Amino acid sequence: MTSTVWDPAQYARYAEERSRPFFELVSRIAVIDARQVVDLGCGPGSLTAALGRRWPTATVEGIDSSPQMIAEASAIADPPRLTFRLADLNDWVPQGPVDVIVSNATLQWIPGHLDLLDRWARVLGPGGVLAFQVPGNFEAASHRAIREVAGLPVWRARLAGLAERGSAVREPADYLATLSAAGLRVDTWETTYLHVLAGADPVLDWVKGTALRPLLSVLSEPGEAEAFLAELGAVLRAAYPPGPAGTVFPFRRLFVVGRRPGQPAAAPAAGLYGIHHVQLAMPAGAEEDARGFYSGVLGLPEVPKPPELAARGGAWFRGPTVEVHLGVQTPFHPARKAHPAFLVTDIDGLAERLGRAGQPVTWDDAVPGQRRFHTVDPFGNRIELVEPQQPGTPETMAGQARPGG
Ligand SMILES: C[S@@+](CC[C@H](N)C(=O)[O-])C[C@H]1O[C@@H](n2cnc3c(N)ncnc32)[C@H](O)[C@@H]1O
Repeated sequence: MTSTVWDPAQYARYAEERSRPFFELVSRIAVIDARQVVDLGCGPGSLTAALGRRWPTATVEGIDSSPQMIAEASAIADPPRLTFRLADLNDWVPQGPVDVIVSNATLQWIPGHLDLLDRWARVLGPGGVLAFQVPGNFEAASHRAIREVAGLPVWRARLAGLAERGSAVREPADYLATLSAAGLRVDTWETTYLHVLAGADPVLDWVKGTALRPLLSVLSEPGEAEAFLAELGAVLRAAYPPGPAGTVFPFRRLFVVGRRPGQPAAAPAAGLYGIHHVQLAMPAGAEEDARGFYSGVLGLPEVPKPPELAARGGAWFRGPTVEVHLGVQTPFHPARKAHPAFLVTDIDGLAERLGRAGQPVTWDDAVPGQRRFHTVDPFGNRIELVEPQQPGTPETMAGQARPGG
């Protein structure tokens, strides 16, 4: 079988749309510290580098079966803790303990990957995490169009079988069952993004970077690829007509995060290794104000308090790696100096939301490498929000900041 030739430059088009699910996946990996991280199907390596910034003391290895992708990734020198290796994931076995396994937009290419997931899950130690994201859009109009054109008499013999590649994705319930049976606690969800694309043939341009790779890899005679793309482009333009905002390209994706119960792998044998939660005070009877601010404005989902504590009032909120407890204090005194500093992404959007909610936003640029500001919650407690600076990349959840103040 002809091996698929990947084109890192074509893949890098729509990098922002393609990387967003990766960051949403990684934001749900609740490993504070990690020593060994692997990125399975690392592609051109830019997101592997983001894993290096997310776990600043970890060794991070990217694995991919495409020589073109590994060549591109190997040029990434920063951070130096990154290494890349050419290997097929069907044969991959970790060379030592692994704390975090990430695989983004790759398993759709590997039929029978439930067996691989079972194997990978079993190498995780206590607190280890296996997290992956796959497209769940094989029945979308874009894939139907590829199958339709590949099935035309002129192409059928060479392309029809290849058009089926990349369809190995299973249902979320299958992933949940497989990883649960391997002893992991599983968090799985799906999201349909409505990408708004610009340009004359944006969906064709998108699939040229991914779904069409196996087909384009065999269309090597002069003019063949152009003829096929012209035919497919016409079908895609009809299926995705441009609207006033641009061409809307719905894209369903599945997310799975499995965690082996137990202490985080990087926890020391004895001693402190992280913050479990931040406790703040609030006046009696103000739970709705707390929900409006911590959930409504800051976006932290509320979690139920244990029944024996619920009677005391207050409210608890939990994000991917942060937990805030609001407890009733009588008489109440707001904390105006001592404060928590939360790592955030999209700090400007957050500042805007706080402004709209009538909360003060006081920017402070005293710490190099960070954008940060202070605000107060509805009770006058001081809160700091920090976005470490990673110029040119969206992965600002990095976690290497040590906010001051
Ligand atoms: C769509 S790209 C995703 C790259 C990267 N994870 C990202 O999100 O940007 C899919 C990658 O999976 C790799 N891949 C596909 N099948 C593979 C296999 N059996 N073993 C290793 N890598 C594989 C391809 O070479 C390609 O780089």
